[in-house]
Amino acid sequence: MTIRMEERAKALAARGIDIISLVGGEPDFDTPEAVKDAAVRALREGFTKYTSSAGIPELREAIEAKLRAQGLDYSSDEIVVTNGAKQALFNAIAAVCEPGDEIIIPSPCWVSFTEQIKLAGGTPMLVPVSEATQFAPDPERVVAAVTPRTRAIVLNSPNNPTGAVYPRDVLSAIADVALRHNLYLIVDEVYEALTYDGTAHLSVPLVRPDVRPLTLLANSMSKTFAMTGWRVGSLAGPRDVIEGIDRLQGHVTGNVNSIAQRAALCALREHVDYSAMLREYDARRRYMVAALNRISGVTCPMPQGAFYAFPDVTALLADKSQRGGVRDSMALAEHWLNTAHVAVVPGDAFFGPGHIRFSYAASMAKIEEGIARIKQVTEQPR
Ligand SMILES: Cc1ncc(COP(=O)(O)O)c(C=O)c1O
Repeated sequence: MTIRMEERAKALAARGIDIISLVGGEPDFDTPEAVKDAAVRALREGFTKYTSSAGIPELREAIEAKLRAQGLDYSSDEIVVTNGAKQALFNAIAAVCEPGDEIIIPSPCWVSFTEQIKLAGGTPMLVPVSEATQFAPDPERVVAAVTPRTRAIVLNSPNNPTGAVYPRDVLSAIADVALRHNLYLIVDEVYEALTYDGTAHLSVPLVRPDVRPLTLLANSMSKTFAMTGWRVGSLAGPRDVIEGIDRLQGHVTGNVNSIAQRAALCALREHVDYSAMLREYDARRRYMVAALNRISGVTCPMPQGAFYAFPDVTALLADKSQRGGVRDSMALAEHWLNTAHVAVVPGDAFFGPGHIRFSYAASMAKIEEGIARIKQVTEQPR
C-alpha cells in the first residue's frame, strides 16, 4: 500500500499537481560527506572485489566495538554484514523458521515481517497492541498467542509505524516468555538512534543477558546515517545461528557491496555525528503531533521514537450504516491525496486500521503545508 500511495502521488505530480508527500520511510537528509568520501577512496583504491560473504573483518570489528560500547558483548564472528536490515531479518527468519512454524509479531507492524515469514513457509501470528500501553506489546497477550508451533517473537523498537519505544519491564517480560517457551527473539533495532524526550532505546540482551542465546539483533546504517540506498545492515546473534546464516547468505547474495562496506566502516569509526538530524526530527515531531491534534476527528499520541506519527482517525470514518463515505484508512488516505494533494500511508498497510502513518522525514515547510491542507479539507463542510 505504501508503494501504491507513492505511485499514485507520483502520477498526480507528473500531471503537474503540487503533491506533498509525508509517506517517506527514509531520512530526507543526505549521507554525511565523510562517508561519501570514504566510498570514493575505496573505489579509487580499487576496492572492488568480492569480500568474505559475512563482511570485511574491519567492519565486523567496528560493529563489535559499537555493540560493546552499548554494553553488548558480541565477537566479530557472531556478526554478519547484510544488505540492509531487511536481509538481516530475512536471514534470521529463514534460519529459525521451518515450514508450519508460527512467529508472533506485535501489530501494527512493518509489512516485510509478515511477508518474510510467509516466504519461509511460516505463519505470522499478529498480536495487537493498544494505544493504552503507548503501543507497547502486552506480554500477557503475547504469551496467550504461544502454541506448540511457535518458534520466535519479532520485536521492533523504536517501532514503525507507531513510534513506540518499548519499556524495560515489557522487554523483560517478553524475555521471560522466550526463555520459558524456548523461542527466538528476532529484534529489529533500525531506529535505535532516533528516540526523543530522554526516552532511551533498550536492547533486549542488555535488559536481560540471559536471553542473549535466543536473540538475533538486526540493525542497519540506513536510518541512523541516512544511508538507505547503500544497503548495509548487520545481524548479531549466537555463533551457531550466525554461522548458518553466513552459509545461507554466501549462496544467496554473497557479500554486501565492497564500497558500501568501506563507507559503513567510516560512519562507525569516525563516529559521524547525527545529533543535528535528531534535533530536527524532534522539532518536526512536536510540530506535527500538535498540528494533527488540532484537526477535529484526529487524535495523535506523542511518539517516542523513529520518525512517524500514527494518529487515530476513526472519528473521520463513516460507519456501516452510512452510505458512501470514507470507510477505512485506505479510503481516507486516497481522499486526502485527491482533495488535499497530500500523500500519507493508511494504517491498514501495517495492520493498524483506523490510523494513518505520517512521516516526519520531510522538511518542516512540507509538514506545515501538508497538515494545513488536510485540516482544511477535513473541516470544511461536506
Ligand atoms: C522496521 C524496519 N525494519 C527494517 C527496515 C529496512 O531497513 P534497511 O534499509 O536497513 O533494509 C525498515 C525500513 O523502512 C523498517 O522500517
